[in-house]
Amino acid sequence: MIMLAWGSFIFLLVQLAPANSIAFDDSVGYGRQFDGIGGLSGGGATSKLLINYPEQFRSEVLDFLFKPSFGASLQILKVEIGGDVQSTDGTEASHMHYSWEENYERGYEWWMMKEAKKRNPNIKLYGLPWGFPGWVGDGTGNPYHNVSKTADYIVRWINGAKSKHNLTIDYVGIWNERPYNIAYIKTLRKVLDERGFQHTQIIASDNKWEIAADLSKDAELKKIVHAIGCHYPGTYSSHEAQHVGKILWSSEDYCQKNNETGGACWARVINRNFVHGYMTSTIAWDLIASYYTNLPGWDMGLMTAKEPWNGHYVVSPPIWASAHTTQFTEIGWSYLKHGHGVGTLPKGGTYVGLVNPRRDHLTIVMESMTFEHSKCQWDWKSPFKVSPQNVSLSLEGKWAEIKEMNMWFTQLGFDGKSNIFFEKKSPLKFTRGKATVFLDLNQIITLTTLKTGRKGSYPPSPPHTEFPLPYSDNFDGYRVHEEPFYLSQQTGAFEVLTEGENGFVRQMVTQMTIPWCKSADGVKKAYNVFGEFAWTDIAVAFDFRIPTVNGSSGVFVGARANRGGCGSSTTSGIFFFALPDKFVLSTDIERKRTVMGGELSYSPGAWHRIALSVLDNTVKLSFDGHTVYHGDVPTSSSAGWAALGTDNYGLADFDNLEINSA
Ligand SMILES: *[C@@H]1O[C@H](CO)[C@@H](O)[C@H](O)[C@H]1NC(C)=O
Ligand SMILES: *[C@@H]1O[C@H](CO)[C@@H](O)[C@H](O)[C@H]1NC(C)=O
Ligand SMILES: *[C@@H]1O[C@H](CO)[C@@H](O)[C@H](O)[C@H]1NC(C)=O
Ligand SMILES: *[C@@H]1O[C@H](CO)[C@@H](O)[C@H](O)[C@H]1NC(C)=O
Ligand SMILES: *[C@@H]1O[C@H](CO)[C@@H](O)[C@H](O)[C@H]1NC(C)=O
Repeated sequence: MIMLAWGSFIFLLVQLAPANSIAFDDSVGYGRQFDGIGGLSGGGATSKLLINYPEQFRSEVLDFLFKPSFGASLQILKVEIGGDVQSTDGTEASHMHYSWEENYERGYEWWMMKEAKKRNPNIKLYGLPWGFPGWVGDGTGNPYHNVSKTADYIVRWINGAKSKHNLTIDYVGIWNERPYNIAYIKTLRKVLDERGFQHTQIIASDNKWEIAADLSKDAELKKIVHAIGCHYPGTYSSHEAQHVGKILWSSEDYCQKNNETGGACWARVINRNFVHGYMTSTIAWDLIASYYTNLPGWDMGLMTAKEPWNGHYVVSPPIWASAHTTQFTEIGWSYLKHGHGVGTLPKGGTYVGLVNPRRDHLTIVMESMTFEHSKCQWDWKSPFKVSPQNVSLSLEGKWAEIKEMNMWFTQLGFDGKSNIFFEKKSPLKFTRGKATVFLDLNQIITLTTLKTGRKGSYPPSPPHTEFPLPYSDNFDGYRVHEEPFYLSQQTGAFEVLTEGENGFVRQMVTQMTIPWCKSADGVKKAYNVFGEFAWTDIAVAFDFRIPTVNGSSGVFVGARANRGGCGSSTTSGIFFFALPDKFVLSTDIERKRTVMGGELSYSPGAWHRIALSVLDNTVKLSFDGHTVYHGDVPTSSSAGWAALGTDNYGLADFDNLEINSA
């Protein structure tokens, strides 16, 4: 008896892997299919400034994002389906401002998708609306008022992508972080099928996991929803979602400054979304921080490029955190099973093993991010502990024959200098499938049988400089329907039109939208901010014209505008409104805090010029070259962008913009 018990004990010791050992074994089968790591352009207007970069630097930035074996080498590009609404850092243009028109030349998402495809033909494309033009809901503000109309509007965008840009949209979503509607999802599927887009899959609902309950009750719905897309899952999925038999994605994640903390956050969620939550795709908001500093979530792109006037850009830690997974996998690879190549490391941190469809390549990604250093904006759970550790790896089954694996290494230092990003180390040797690797805190290690992989580089981009002054734009030389490059639209939709040889900008929105942030769109002042947030003393002037039909009730020029995004309605600054029968000087964009006003008279249909110049507390307003006010203003805002806009949703034209130091 005693001998037997002793014998079984010995047997157990031999069978148990040594402490700190992790095994990789596919003889037990595979886990879920890997669906790719991606970035989100839009949601909103986050790529705004990139399109106007000098071609050389623009192309370099795009290489760091999309080129395989170079940088982030992204596998999915998600874009906003513009809806003329404020969607976080600005508005993106709808392909149908009005029910009777269709246009596939607006904005920059078509361009972004084509540039991504040019670099990686296998990249998957995913479109999602944040809001809609008002007509889509027949003015009710509800996109599900007539589900056929909304499905028609969305499928037209997918069709436009194909017919005008030769782009195949692989995935389409419902309504970003807003309620879904089952009848709408079913109608959308029907219209996609009717118009030849059977291959375009529906992701729902770009909110939390709540749709899992409906999927388990409704077999038809379950069949047509390809994957549940959850935002900011905090690396966990619900029990119900895990058991409903659907693919799970983190369809929006990250949301962190692209410093080392952002790199650590991104590395952590890429691994843990699968380890904890069985999510097989993770998409970063946002792809590229190409919007003015101080707009909401500034610098929260995988990298930053926000100085089109000189070409300056910064390749940030999240680019290299992405590379650890994307450069050594493809969509269609399989994760290993939990406990057989996927799990938590003995002393904290995680690892995932991935295998290609031919089952002859193995990639392992390990991360040891600490709680203190890897915070993402919206996913903070209870603290966890990670310690430095020697990890014993055990390759089993056919993998036991592997003699060495190529090794790529990142160490985050959080001091701006002791970082090592995506460095190729000498291969890790295996003896009878066994090897040990030391993993210190805040490291990423990729081990792979693939020989590919490259840390792409270009000579340093031009140095940082501020927005150049004086600046002027006559809007000639643009493509028709293009967005004015430096004007960052916060509400409304502005695009370049022409009359003979003359290019000018028109504000296009004439009706309240179906907004994403009611607070911003509800103010009905269509406006842009531009320049530096630190500007105090500045002079801004432009020509404007109110069209005789559907014209706006007036226009304004602003300085020291201190807010954008969903907070746009509460923007303070100094605003000079020129209305057909009066002028108003106000310190808020809603025209509630009026400082003074006076007489003015003009008729719609003709061009006029307004100018605002601010120096300390002294403000000078002029109209058609005549000073209408020159005096002090009690400012509520000491610095901010320049601004230009309309007094309500109505058409207005702008030309010959000039900005100067006061
Ligand atoms: C809903 O929209 C469709 C397509 O735009 C239209 O044909 C139909 O008449 C609308 N239905 C109702 C009830 O208004
Ligand atoms: C459209 O794209 C496909 C690849 O997706 C390519 O094979 C084809 O040549 C393109 N067609 C045109 C007209 O550019
Ligand atoms: C890891 O192994 C090395 C070499 O055996 C040893 O010097 C070191 O102390 C170990 N570190 C930890 C944290 O166990
Ligand atoms: C990165 O930026 C965030 C937000 O400003 C900040 O909390 C964090 O400390 C920064 N991390 C580093 C390493 O500087
Ligand atoms: C302009 O107004 C006319 C008449 O009120 C209306 O029929 C038309 O739809 C409007 N156009 C726009 C762009 O709103």
